Parts: sequence; structure tokens; C-alpha cells
Amino acid sequence: MSKILVTGGAGFIGSHTVVELQEAGYDVVVLDNLCNSSEKSLERVAKITGKEVPFYKADILDRDALEDIFSKEDISAVIHFAGLKAVGESVQKPWEYYENNIAGTLTLVDVMRKHNCKNIIFSSSATVYGNPAFIPITEECPKGQCTNPYGWTKSMLEQILSDIQKADNEWNVILLRYFNPIGAHKSGTIGENPSGIPNNLMPYITQVAVGKRDHLNVFGNDYDTHDGTGVRDYIHVVDLALGHVKALKKIEENAGLKIYNLGTGQGYSVLDIVKNFEEANGVKIPYEIEGRRPGDIATCYADPSLAKKELGWEAQYGIKEMCRDSWNWQRNNPNGYDD
Ligand code: NAD
Ligand code: WQD
Repeated sequence: MSKILVTGGAGFIGSHTVVELQEAGYDVVVLDNLCNSSEKSLERVAKITGKEVPFYKADILDRDALEDIFSKEDISAVIHFAGLKAVGESVQKPWEYYENNIAGTLTLVDVMRKHNCKNIIFSSSATVYGNPAFIPITEECPKGQCTNPYGWTKSMLEQILSDIQKADNEWNVILLRYFNPIGAHKSGTIGENPSGIPNNLMPYITQVAVGKRDHLNVFGNDYDTHDGTGVRDYIHVVDLALGHVKALKKIEENAGLKIYNLGTGQGYSVLDIVKNFEEANGVKIPYEIEGRRPGDIATCYADPSLAKKELGWEAQYGIKEMCRDSWNWQRNNPNGYDD
């Protein structure tokens, strides 16, 4: 049976996707250089699914390693999560972000086509909409100015992969634009494991809840939103993972080039999240209002109806379940995958 190569499969979204792929009966191979993850996530995936997860510790920039994998394994499609993703760091280290994300993807795609594997699902982001022209955001919404190199790597890679598909229609390219993934597998054994101070809201909240941080800094309460704090479309990572299983089915129908938003269509403010987290988990989250974070926008949420229509996918989990599962993971693993 042919296999699905999951690059970045040891990471947050990748590990959850490997679970859902294996549960759906796919044969999976993972490639990851572990620069932002631990191999333990894959051991835990194997415990959840009862199936081994074949793993190559390799870099997508390493052509020889990719050649080796594609020669040994019969890969029919790639789900491409591998990439650097810290917005602030990308401003400090633009070269590293362009090199890793863009040169890495170009190398991967070159090896894929040499081995006649022309099916790819790419992890894109709502960040490509910049400050969105309209809300809720449909896929028709024009792409905007990104405020950081990380965002540009996503925007540019969308363009690159689209051009490759247009030039050779044997390619099937699905660009999935994720909104704000949070939550964790219900087992509480895999989850988001940021190194250092978390950049994103939910891991920061769970670290406050577990006592690692004193309080949450709320970045701005003077936005044009219902309570002045930023509004986002949070989506349970298991729903996101299931979106990839549906996208793979679409690839099997020779989809060509497709773009889908993966979000719930619901916007929640920072203070809504704090409140829901407190109610779902019975834990208090002290917070202080700070100034706005540079590059942030007021409101961002999806119109996810195209994914429903064309993929038969729609988010199942609500905000309480997202808060519950994020906390379940953090509480059971206060130091993430570190013992
Ligand atoms: P993550 O950091 O947990 O996972 C990314 C994985 O890629 C890590 O395991 C890392 O070790 C690996 N990796 C990075 N560079 C690599 C390289 N050169 N070779 C091999 N492996 C490499 O991040 P995540 O949150 O799971 O995100 C997965 C993908 O989804 C990323 O491409 C990210 O940009 C994208 N995305 C994430 C979010 C989010 O909020 N988490 C939102 C939109 C898009
Ligand atoms: C959410 C809201 C913050 C932390 C980022 C990337 C985006 C995508 C998802 C990859 C905002 C506020 C946050 C904190 C806060 N990633 N906040 N205190 O900025 O929507 O998106 O992750 O593609 O590209 O930009 O997510 O979780 O950082 O912030 O008040 O300590 O929470 O201002 O309103 P964001 P986030």
C-alpha cells in the first residue's frame, strides 16, 4: 500500500494529524528534524493508535535524505507541516525563515517530482490575508500585506505551489489556511509544546493556569471589537487534523489546485477565551492589560463554508472543549514532553 509522508509530523498539528490518518487507515511515514519538537510525541501517537509510526529524523533541506526516503518508501502524497512558525523570531531572523521554509519546500517538491509524487497538502495560514479586506474571510478575500517574514513565507509558498500546479496539471495541490489551532487530543498525551515563553494565547494561558507564569498579558483593549480585545477564530487541533484527512480524499479525486479555510466561523476575543477557560476548567486566569502587540489586527475569523461544501468537513468542537483539552494536556504534562 502506498504511504503518506508527513513532514513536521512530530510537531503540534502534525502529531494530531498522524493520529487521525492512522485511525482512518492510512499508512504514514513521518519526517522531522525535531528542531521544534520531540520524538516522544510520536511514541505517544503510537500508544493512542496502537500502530508504529515510521520516523525519519531528517531535514527538508537535506536533498540526499529526502532521496533516500522517497527511494525506500512508496509515497503517494505529502502533507507538508515542516516549517518554522514563530512570528517574532522571523522578524529577527528573516534569512533563516526564508531558507528553512522556502528553500526547504523547494527541495522537497523537487525530490517529489523526481519520484513522480505530485500530491501535496500545504499548511498555510490565515496570516496570508494580512489585515483582511472583509470579515468573515472567504477564500476569495484578496491576500494582503503580511507584517512579518513568517507570514510572507506562507504567502510566497502558496504562490510557488500554485505556479507549479498550473505548469503541470499532474500536480494536485491543496493549500489549507488554518486559523488559530488550540486544544489537544482527548487522551491528554499529545499537545502543543512551545519552547521558551509562548507567543500564542492559549499556551500562555495554560502556563498561567499551571503556575509557570504569573498572569496573562492582554495585548490591547482598544480594538474595535465587542470588548476591545482581539478577536480570532480558534479551532480544535483534532478538527484541523480531520480536515487533512478530508483533503487527502480530495487529492485522491485529482483535485488540481484548491484552497480552503480551516476555521470554525466563530470569533472569540481574548477576554472571551479567558472566561471560557475559567468556566470550563474551574481555574482562575489573572490578567493585565498591556499595549497592543505590533502587527496584530483587530478581528480575524473564517467563512468555512467552502470546506464544508467541497470537502464535507466542518469543525465539531466548541470553545469549551478546546479550553478543556488544552488544559488537560498542560495539567498532565506541565513540562510538555520533558520529564
Ligand atoms: P510545530 O513547530 O509544532 O511543527 C512544525 C514541525 O516542523 C516541528 O516538529 C519542527 O521540528 C519541524 N521542522 C521545522 N523545520 C524543519 C525542517 N527544515 N526539516 C524538518 N522538519 C522541520 O508547528 P505546528 O503548530 O504544528 O505547525 C505546523 C505547520 O502549520 C507549520 O508549517 C506552521 O507554519 C503551520 N501553521 C501553524 C499555525 C499555528 O498557529 N500553530 C497556524 C497556521 C499555520
Ligand atoms: C491571539 C490573540 C493577541 C498572546 C498567530 C500568527 C498566525 C498563526 C496563528 C501561524 C491576539 C492576543 C496573545 C498573549 C494576548 N500562526 N494575545 N496575549 O496572532 O492571531 O496568530 O498564530 O500561522 O500567523 O500570527 O495568534 O495566539 O498569538 O494571538 O493578548 O500573551 O491573543 O494579541 O489578539 P495570532 P495569537
